[in-house]
Order: sequence, then C-alpha cells, then structure tokens
Amino acid sequence: MTEPGRPRIVHVGFYCKDLKASVAWYKDVLGMEEQFGMPGRAQALGFGGEKDDHDIFLVQAPDHYAEPTPMHFDYETLTPTKGRVGFYHVAIDFQSFEAAMQAYGRALARNTLLAKGVQHGDGRGVYVRDPDGNLVELFSFNDCVDDAEARKFLVAYPGSEGRGGGFSMDVAATYEKWRASRKELAEV
Ligand SMILES: [Fe+2]
Repeated sequence: MTEPGRPRIVHVGFYCKDLKASVAWYKDVLGMEEQFGMPGRAQALGFGGEKDDHDIFLVQAPDHYAEPTPMHFDYETLTPTKGRVGFYHVAIDFQSFEAAMQAYGRALARNTLLAKGVQHGDGRGVYVRDPDGNLVELFSFNDCVDDAEARKFLVAYPGSEGRGGGFSMDVAATYEKWRASRKELAEV
C-alpha cells in the first residue's frame, strides 16, 4: 500500500463584488483558465494540469455582503497602514522572475493597484490587489530558473536591505529596469 501523501491546499475561494470582472482579472493577469462554473454565480479557475483540480474558486457575493477592506502598506518600510484581521494574501509561484514580471505588466495594463514588493528570504513577491482588493502575491523563488538574472533588476528602497532577511522592493523601478532590458533584447 502506498503511503498517504501530505495534506495540501486544494483551492482558495473568494466572494466577489463583480464575478465577471474578477474572472477576467484572474484569467488575464494570472493566466488562469476557466474550469467548471455556474454562469453568473461561480467560476472555478486553474493553471491547468491535474484533472478536476482548480486553484481559485470565485463566487458572486450577495448584495447584502459587506464591502471589502483592502490592506495598505508603506511601500518603503512595509509598515502596515490600514487593514483588518483575516485573509492576508495568496501567493502564486510563477516559476520564474520573467513570468512574474510579465504578470505584473498585465496587472498594470488593467490598472491593478500595487500593495508592496518584498525580497523575502526564499524568494521575491509583488503584491497586487484583485478587483476586490484581495492581495495576490506574484512570486518567484530564489532557486527559480532565472534567479541570477532577477537579481540584476531588483531595486531596493534605500536602507531596507538586510531587514528581516530581505528588503522592500521598489517595484516600479524594478519593473522599469526589467522592461528596458527586454526592449534592448527586442532591438538586437
Ligand atoms: Fe507570501
């Protein structure tokens, strides 16, 4: 008999103010695919792979549900400035810095709001807000395929290095640096 595997998270569910807008955001920014759903009521989304397995489950919120209260941080110090107890964020491993930056580019194109950027001990994350303000961390691990490349682009806020094993990323500057290098590549 095979050993039972470790328990794992199967999916994360969100109530959405506007299901259609949220489905569009998760598909477009994160590159997710629609799986099963109930039109106008709920939609399962996944990154493909295992059958009947979805990563995010979006549900249309009833009208009487309370408004979301997005969390805010000081970009430079990462100090939380506004928020509430409860769900904090869901992190998506993009497997590469390149893919995470591409996702951030798509997020920007949809006027997605940035919450913060962090070079953690184990990887780096850019925290953006979905249409309801839920934080989604666009993540790539330190051992991802293009980590050495990624480190050339990371811009830290001065004085933030070494704090808590990482630093606060100046996401706008990092993204611009990465984008400029991509432009150069395209022109060669
Ligand atoms: Fe995280």
